[in-house]
Amino acid sequence: MKNSLKWISLSLLLSANIFAAPSKKLITIDSDAVNFSNKLFGQKMKAVKKVGGISLIEIDEDALLQLSHEMHEKFNRCGGYMLHDSLEDALASINAVEKRNFAKSAPFADYALTAEDEVTPLIGQVSEKNITNVIKKLSSYRNRYYKSETGLQAAKWISEKWASLVTNRSDASVELYQHARWKQPSVILTIKGESEETIIVGGHLDSIAGFWGRERAHAPGADDNASGIATITEIIRVLVETDFKPTKTLKFMGYAAEEVGLLGSKEIAAEMKAEGANIIGVMQLDMTNFKGSDLDIVMMTDYTNQQQNEFIGTLLDKYLPTVSWGYDRCGYGCSDHASWHGQGYPASMPFEAKKNDMNNNIHTSRDTIEQSRGGSNHAAKFAKLGLSFVVELDR
Ligand code: BES
Ligand code: ZN
Repeated sequence: MKNSLKWISLSLLLSANIFAAPSKKLITIDSDAVNFSNKLFGQKMKAVKKVGGISLIEIDEDALLQLSHEMHEKFNRCGGYMLHDSLEDALASINAVEKRNFAKSAPFADYALTAEDEVTPLIGQVSEKNITNVIKKLSSYRNRYYKSETGLQAAKWISEKWASLVTNRSDASVELYQHARWKQPSVILTIKGESEETIIVGGHLDSIAGFWGRERAHAPGADDNASGIATITEIIRVLVETDFKPTKTLKFMGYAAEEVGLLGSKEIAAEMKAEGANIIGVMQLDMTNFKGSDLDIVMMTDYTNQQQNEFIGTLLDKYLPTVSWGYDRCGYGCSDHASWHGQGYPASMPFEAKKNDMNNNIHTSRDTIEQSRGGSNHAAKFAKLGLSFVVELDR
């Protein structure tokens, strides 16, 4: 008798537990992950407070495990949140962030999205075929090494191509930016606006392979980085053909000598800084056409500006909702964004894959467009993203 009573009370207890409301937990989480988590968990989570880049969230205990999994998948963060056992503890933690953020610099631009009517039609104009043609042309040079004759010829070809796109525009000019220590120039296309505020989209134009004899080595550099230059070329074409007139000044850059230590971009960024240039945003496009990961676009978080990175995340969510994206790190100053970041300008680098899934054929004779099945499907996403970046920052 006693035993059966025990069983009844135990099963009552269990069933009560099943129907009881799940217990609530308090966590703090980076605000960039909140929108995304909201979609996933709906009723199971509620934002309590937001300070700087951190949000205090009340969430059902049973959703925590999945959150941690998603944070790892999408943001490459282990866990990705901090668990607090009381409201006091959570508030103390978030207020400490508030103090730290006080010293943080103000954003460089207004990151609200206000130009949907202009961005949407422009995005529709992006042509994969145009991107493919430029990749094929640039990878047909034996190499684009900073010291080689073909490296010089390739830079000249880019400047002529860009000049041909803006022949009817009196507000646009193309310049070969000469570097004193080597023969390959950088290429800069400027579309002047009414204001001095400047938006830059760039990528390196050189390529490299081998160790000895690099001046003669076969370095097609189709992905690294003919893809980035071809993506930028298509951004320029769409802006000009749709007669886009910027209010701010736009600069498109093909950097020389990146592969030997970011040399071209370092000189340009240092010179512009010395001149007091008012640069409000820089996007680096280096490797855009090899889809190595499940994620389409990966934002590098090191040597970049996190506020601008989050802005680019909002561009992706709004204008390219079928394109998946996340975050990763290079682990070092892996491309020209680091030159701008080093001068205190806000730079971002949306990349073609997670670092671990990177294209293993770069810096070899095998870096050809065939690695991307001969087309530019992946790079076209970056051209659309670049267009939305330019137009939204300009407005
Ligand atoms: N496109 C690469 C950078 C890269 C490679 C980024 C793989 C992410 C994954 C770039 O052209 C490059 O090769 N950079 C150099 C560093 C530079 C300071 C010489 C590199 O990564 O070795
Ligand atoms: Zn490279």
